[in-house]
Amino acid sequence: MPATVVVGTQWGDEGKGKLTDLIAKEMAMVVRYQGGHNAGHTLVVDGESFALQLVPSGVLYDHIVPVIGNGVVVDPFVLLAEIDTLESKGVDCSRLRVSGNAHLILPYHQELDMLTERYLGKNKLGTTKRGIGPTYADKAMRVGIRVQDLLDEKIFRAKLDAVLGDKNTVLTRVYNRLPTDPDELADRVMAEVVPRLRPHVADSVGLVHDALDAGENVLFEGAQATFLDLDHGTYPFVTSSNPVAGGACTGAGIGPRHIQRVVGIAKAYITRVGAGPFPTELFDADGDALVDRGHEFGTNTGRRRRPGWFDAVMMRQAVRLNSLSEVAITKLDILDTFDTLKVCVAYDVNGERHEHLPYHQSDLHSAKPIYEELPGWQSDLTAVRERSELPTPAVRYLEFLEGQIGAPISLVGVGPGREQFVNFSG
Ligand code: IMP
Repeated sequence: MPATVVVGTQWGDEGKGKLTDLIAKEMAMVVRYQGGHNAGHTLVVDGESFALQLVPSGVLYDHIVPVIGNGVVVDPFVLLAEIDTLESKGVDCSRLRVSGNAHLILPYHQELDMLTERYLGKNKLGTTKRGIGPTYADKAMRVGIRVQDLLDEKIFRAKLDAVLGDKNTVLTRVYNRLPTDPDELADRVMAEVVPRLRPHVADSVGLVHDALDAGENVLFEGAQATFLDLDHGTYPFVTSSNPVAGGACTGAGIGPRHIQRVVGIAKAYITRVGAGPFPTELFDADGDALVDRGHEFGTNTGRRRRPGWFDAVMMRQAVRLNSLSEVAITKLDILDTFDTLKVCVAYDVNGERHEHLPYHQSDLHSAKPIYEELPGWQSDLTAVRERSELPTPAVRYLEFLEGQIGAPISLVGVGPGREQFVNFSG
């Protein structure tokens, strides 16, 4: 199974980190293909917690080469701080490779992200304010600065000078802010970033293809999720990249024929951070229970996530958009205390039943979930390791989801620890 893609199927925070870590065990290489430090994974290994933002999940295994692909946007200061934190906990980051074609998030991107959000007022998107959108915008405008530019000081300074002419006009004249001094920023980058990052910069496409040609297993790790996809998500309440499985092709430099397996990660319920439509959103005690029991607060931003019941309509769309070959369900244990569980099986849009996601966003805004209710199991699943140990209502819930989604469920997470999962398919 040389090339596998792992992709979030909802609005992010599905617990991809833990599942990716689990699947990564059999891989020689793990490649992040999009997003930046707007992502945040927490992995618990032997009781110790590791928070990853930019570094691919495989870093915790000695045999894996973690690669940051060309489709990722990299804040070099954040990356170096993350490496320092990992190394202080004894994790060797020397194998980490960063694509020379990845674009750099620099301080002015972050400032512009914050300012744009502020000026949008009540129409703001609720971004993570990490500079993600402005950096991808610069990439599309062809004024971005890439990781490889760090290796040629003359080019780096020239590009920074050129782009800051425009950015400073906007910062000072539109937003009434102080300009960024290009020399000061370049000096800081040259002193603090370049000497440390240089050994990690690589031809990531070459590395990926050498591994695939040698028959090694390579995992392509998506950040964010299907419904935050710039093209297929709930635009404009999306991120600025393509988390869908196809994003692995452009974001890592492979063709679609390389991909044999696509694992979709779905939480046993749903959460969303930031603004945007959310048909199964809960505003009641059940929602509060999901947030409390699931610790549904952003790893990075601390924001309370909006909770809701599992939505099979979205999942059917996620199966289509990603060609999912299997689904891994996370955080099933969070549902342990509920008497009954609801699953959205279709939407009512202006009196009409929709089994598939309506293409027009106004319809999604007004969609009312049609639920099926299933009995809960009211027992603690956190120690369950085998399918045969799952209480019957939990098996029924998972089998019901499989039937609704139209893809098999392979793994089921029952707690934050690396060992807390059930192989549902075998
Ligand atoms: P941005 O990616 O910071 O531009 O934010 C755009 C939207 O994506 C906002 O609604 C964010 O809350 C959301 N978002 C970005 N990254 C993540 C993530 O890793 N998990 C969940 N939501 C995210």
